[in-house]
Amino acid sequence: MTKRSLGAYVHVPFCGSRCGYCDFNTYTAGELQRDGTSVSADTYAQRVVEEIRLTTQHKADFVQPLETIFFGGGTPTLLPALDLNLILRELANTYALADNCEVTTEANPDSVDKEYLETLRAGGFTRISFGHQSSSQKVLQVLDRTHTSGRTWQAVQWAREVGFEHVSVDLIYGSPHETDEDLQLTLAEVAAAPVDHVSAYSLIVEPGTRLAATIKRGELPAPTDDVAASRYEIIDNALAAMGMSWYEVSNWSLPGGECRHNIAYWRNQDWLGIGPGAHAHFDGLRQWNVKHPAAWAALVDSGELPVADREHLSALDVAHENIMLALRLRTGLALAELSPAANEQAEIALTDGLLEPEQFANGLAVLTFKGRLLADGLVARLWD
Ligand SMILES: C[S@@+](CC[C@H](N)C(=O)[O-])C[C@H]1O[C@@H](n2cnc3c(N)ncnc32)[C@H](O)[C@@H]1O
Ligand code: SF4
Repeated sequence: MTKRSLGAYVHVPFCGSRCGYCDFNTYTAGELQRDGTSVSADTYAQRVVEEIRLTTQHKADFVQPLETIFFGGGTPTLLPALDLNLILRELANTYALADNCEVTTEANPDSVDKEYLETLRAGGFTRISFGHQSSSQKVLQVLDRTHTSGRTWQAVQWAREVGFEHVSVDLIYGSPHETDEDLQLTLAEVAAAPVDHVSAYSLIVEPGTRLAATIKRGELPAPTDDVAASRYEIIDNALAAMGMSWYEVSNWSLPGGECRHNIAYWRNQDWLGIGPGAHAHFDGLRQWNVKHPAAWAALVDSGELPVADREHLSALDVAHENIMLALRLRTGLALAELSPAANEQAEIALTDGLLEPEQFANGLAVLTFKGRLLADGLVARLWD
């Protein structure tokens, strides 16, 4: 059996302000004050260090060098750069880092300057992913973003100047009031920037968000599937023209620019989850931390692992998860792993033009362009 690789996800649950569409586990200083908690960005890194030390008691047999580390949020770059480096050092001291360990942080474009990036690079970060979303000021406003488009490209330039090996941007498409021309402008700016990776997500109207309420009141139009599909096509064509290919339905890169951390998730490898609400996975055991930063901090302060719950995945759960994850990857899903009924569905999908015929003949389900547009529906059909 091939050895399972280990990664680490570190969640940073703070944002300067909350974007109306976002339902991630993140809090502004005002929200935390309203909750009456003493948790803040100032004391966060020390508690994360404590949690990292606690994780080894829990899973001593999983202590092995980390192949990838990902700081996500929230806005990790709201913490001082030296705090992120301190956390990274603790992971290195406790677990060791594999040669060529990929160390990513997410960043809001207006949360960093060149000196900040220089400090992260010197501390061992190798990859940075900026939440650009759009180059249209009108769309940025609809999304409540606090940065200008130009600020992203300045930050990308700084990241390259200080030596980041990989630089990515996140885009959101299909936003209310976005036009094809707005998206073309975004893509033209991406083409001119030294990025080697793009994640593009169609805007999801998450229940309970400010955006959902605004749409419900009729003040903004709801995104539609047809517009999302045609924008996805525009994105795929433009990125292909830049030499980027898709390696997961929402992710494109230049050769060698793939995010290894995300690939490890999608291949069901193992990872530690550090911070409030973070999920971990160890060979079929899934566990997640308590969600609120105050509850998380109280457990860490009392020397307890802040785990809310855990579950052992059944063989069926693992098979389902594998279908969902592998089918979205360009490397595809082995048909041999499907039940006879699911294989029949795969045959139908092939006839409908959703799967690549050549790959299918070699025993692999690999999505065509049309298949990528309909990936979620196909996953559901293969599950039954
Ligand atoms: C956890 S956020 C963190 C990134 C960073 N805080 C920022 O906003 O720049 C990661 C990405 O998820 C995407 N995202 C979050 N909510 C979304 C939604 N409702 N629909 C589509 N994409 C979303 C955005 O592209 C965002 O950049
Ligand atoms: S999209 Fe990013 S900046 Fe906006 S609220 Fe979510 S995590 Fe925070």
